[in-house]
Amino acid sequence: MTEEEIKQITKLHKSYIPTGFLSTLPDRFLFELYSYIEKSPYGLLYIEKKENRVIGFVSGTTDIKKLYLGFIFKKGLKVACLLLPYLLNRETLFKLFETVSYPVRSKSKAVKGSLPKAELLSIVVHRDAQRKGYGQSLFYRLKGGFKEKGIRNFKVVVGANNFSARRFYEKMGGELLQEIEVHRGVRSVIYRFNT
Ligand SMILES: CC(C)(COP(=O)(O)OP(=O)(O)OC[C@H]1O[C@@H](n2cnc3c(N)ncnc32)[C@H](O)[C@@H]1OP(=O)(O)O)[C@@H](O)C(=O)NCCC(=O)NCCS
Repeated sequence: MTEEEIKQITKLHKSYIPTGFLSTLPDRFLFELYSYIEKSPYGLLYIEKKENRVIGFVSGTTDIKKLYLGFIFKKGLKVACLLLPYLLNRETLFKLFETVSYPVRSKSKAVKGSLPKAELLSIVVHRDAQRKGYGQSLFYRLKGGFKEKGIRNFKVVVGANNFSARRFYEKMGGELLQEIEVHRGVRSVIYRFNT
């Protein structure tokens, strides 16, 4: 993927997933994260383009812990410099802890069997292109990518109040597993999919 395409992915993420913790961090951080997801053996990233513009993307991981560890190992110093001003803020530090620790917390509360390690991390389609099947097409490409890697099921965590995304995941065959709090006072739900 080109640098320009990753920049456009970053922009879409910031505009369409504004309530997520990652959107509060600098653009450069998200850019580094998506660049890493594309290259990592634990990451998957697909885009949809129209007239040379990225109109949608989907990202996923086969193992979020290994993905984050690899990211810190490969880009730790660069990312630490970018985040330093933010990390001095106690609230941001706490949110960062909540974000990286949620896989463990959600696992301990898992109700219907164990949670899949693999995860759809983000999916966005530009407003002008929504309800035209691009989301479904991106979703199926990710699903195919997981299948090729031998992954049999994966999950997604989505804001409990993000009703349009929830309808989308339900249409994609998601099974509602449980409700969790990734961040204090903010409800999220987890869906599971088979590949
Ligand atoms: C979720 C999202 C990616 C769906 O993309 P999309 O291209 O519009 O989805 P599709 O056109 O492929 O829709 C497939 C089906 O999902 C369901 N669906 C999609 N958007 C919906 C909405 N807003 N309301 C109700 N159902 C919806 C419909 O059943 C739809 O089929 P239909 O149009 O034949 O009825 C898009 O709405 C989006 O970018 N949302 C903002 C970002 C976000 O919240 N992402 C999820 C959290 S990471």
